[in-house]
Amino acid sequence: MGYKNLLTQKQDGVGWIIINRPDKLNALNSKTIKELYEAFLSLQESPDVRVIILTGSGEKAFIAGADISELAQLEFSTGKDYVLEGQELSKLIENLRKPVIAAINGFALGGGTEMALACHVRIASDNAKMGQPEVKLGLIPGFGGTQRLARLVGKGIAMELILTGRIIDAQEAFRIGLVNRVVPQSELRPCCDALAKEMIANAPLALEYAIKAINIGLDKSLGEGLLNEAELFGKCCETEDSKEGTKAFLEKKKAHFQGN
Ligand code: COA
Repeated sequence: MGYKNLLTQKQDGVGWIIINRPDKLNALNSKTIKELYEAFLSLQESPDVRVIILTGSGEKAFIAGADISELAQLEFSTGKDYVLEGQELSKLIENLRKPVIAAINGFALGGGTEMALACHVRIASDNAKMGQPEVKLGLIPGFGGTQRLARLVGKGIAMELILTGRIIDAQEAFRIGLVNRVVPQSELRPCCDALAKEMIANAPLALEYAIKAINIGLDKSLGEGLLNEAELFGKCCETEDSKEGTKAFLEKKKAHFQGN
């Protein structure tokens, strides 16, 4: 499928989604949000893709935020609808059946930090800059930032970052747990690719159920989350891959997972 603002690539089980508006620092306009939604759905269904990596084109930006020229036109109902669409995309990414890695290759501001927050794992290049500067525009984060940032780094740090609109560098993002790792820019794509390969070696349904168990659990009490974990563990036990994985271990062989 051809996209105007995205490039997609499939290689060795990895599906790359590259936002391609470098002249606008990969800012998310409505068209790009729609295309991202389609691209994630399409790669989720693609049998030759096991892990997805989201990144930005060029060396300067992952996503420099929602497109401010569009934000400038919004009123109450259009503003609400606008962010609901961005939230749908963030929910799709967060609940995707396949792992999604954010390769944060530069500015990840506003909607950029929010899209990274929706991904399952975040790796930043050493030139990355992150933050939620919406209050500087008279706005608040609207693609999930007020919710997911607090859940990931804690309420106190989320309050400080959102209320100041301060932009932080990659090392600070790592220190507060906003990103999992920081690597030199030249190593960002190989590092994310290697991480994807580590995941690809595992049973696909186990990855899907693990994502589900973690996501569902975080919205529930510990007791309910544990019960849900037990249900999903039970579902794993019904899979051919769990038979293959346990048998291969006991026979000291390498497991070959089929995804069923
Ligand atoms: N929306 C729309 N356009 C954006 C954008 C955004 N979020 N971020 C950058 N751009 C555009 C700029 O308007 C400029 O376009 P132009 O060349 O047609 O004028 C182009 O991208 C390059 O950006 P520029 O500001 O010239 O680059 P810079 O290196 O001087 O600064 C930033 C980089 C990221 C610090 C700066 O672009 C910025 O502050 N962007 C907005 C960040 C933001 O507030 N995001 C949250 C939105 S909710």
